[in-house]
Amino acid sequence: MGIETSVANKKEKEFCELEKAKNPILDPYPNPKANTNSKGKKGRRRHLKKAAVVSPVQKLYDTCKEVFKDRRPGIVPHPDSIDKLRAVLDDIKPEDVGLSPEMPYFRSPAAGRTPAIRYLHLHECDKFSIGIFCFPPSGVIPLHNHPGMTVFSKLLFGTLHIKSYDWVVDGPCNVSAVANPSDVKQSEIQQPPVQLAKVKINSNFTAPCNPTILYPAEGGNMHRFTAVTACAVLDVLGPPYSDAEGRHCTYYYDFPFGNFSVDGVSVPEEERESYAWLQDKGKQPEEFAVVGELYGGTWCFFTLQLLYIKG
Ligand SMILES: [Fe+2]
Repeated sequence: MGIETSVANKKEKEFCELEKAKNPILDPYPNPKANTNSKGKKGRRRHLKKAAVVSPVQKLYDTCKEVFKDRRPGIVPHPDSIDKLRAVLDDIKPEDVGLSPEMPYFRSPAAGRTPAIRYLHLHECDKFSIGIFCFPPSGVIPLHNHPGMTVFSKLLFGTLHIKSYDWVVDGPCNVSAVANPSDVKQSEIQQPPVQLAKVKINSNFTAPCNPTILYPAEGGNMHRFTAVTACAVLDVLGPPYSDAEGRHCTYYYDFPFGNFSVDGVSVPEEERESYAWLQDKGKQPEEFAVVGELYGGTWCFFTLQLLYIKG
């Protein structure tokens, strides 16, 4: 899901520099050499106290920087690094990022209107991105992929339905399908290519729960999020989407296995629910509305202080 971030990055940088100059206690890693005051032990104690204050979001940023330092598309971080980042995400609470279900982002839309999903951008570089999706009830992020990425999704509050798939290894790849003869209308239409996928997750998750993790070729690389209640999801992508590097976000239709016939492909009747044919939608679905929020755009100053990230 491509979200415009350049303005947000500029605002973030401006905010960090402004606040650091105005209030040096926000800097969690002050330069010891710069502490040249002559207050002796008192000054050193104050320095130690400042060094110990690291916000959960700063900790997340620092951990991501370490975990994704050797980022290369398709390369999964070491299992120890995965565990480390998972543990940091486990500890993050809605209040750490200044969110609560009572905020306007999470209100139901007017009758007949598509629930708009907000994306709060925290950080993006060429190695990883961090952001939060805010869902009103019934908000949907349609089925999409994460090419070459490792993605951590932490549900901060609410209940979210996740349906995810992985490609079937050695399965038919972008083949022409013939619609099931029982669907006369569809069988008359030339079908775009489809690819066979296996269901990985098809469940509701209610916070607090463990983060879900997907990988380039397993763990449910293609997923759809549907908000059962208002909810917020903290997402870490490593590496992020990049059109320049060929990591586009592709959206898919998913059709039941029985809808199409492909030469040489069969699945036992009792296992058919676990498979689906995925078809490239070709563009971002029109009904999918994501509003990117500037970092600090509508958040209160207190929240901005909590979200201060030292890059
Ligand atoms: Fe996703």
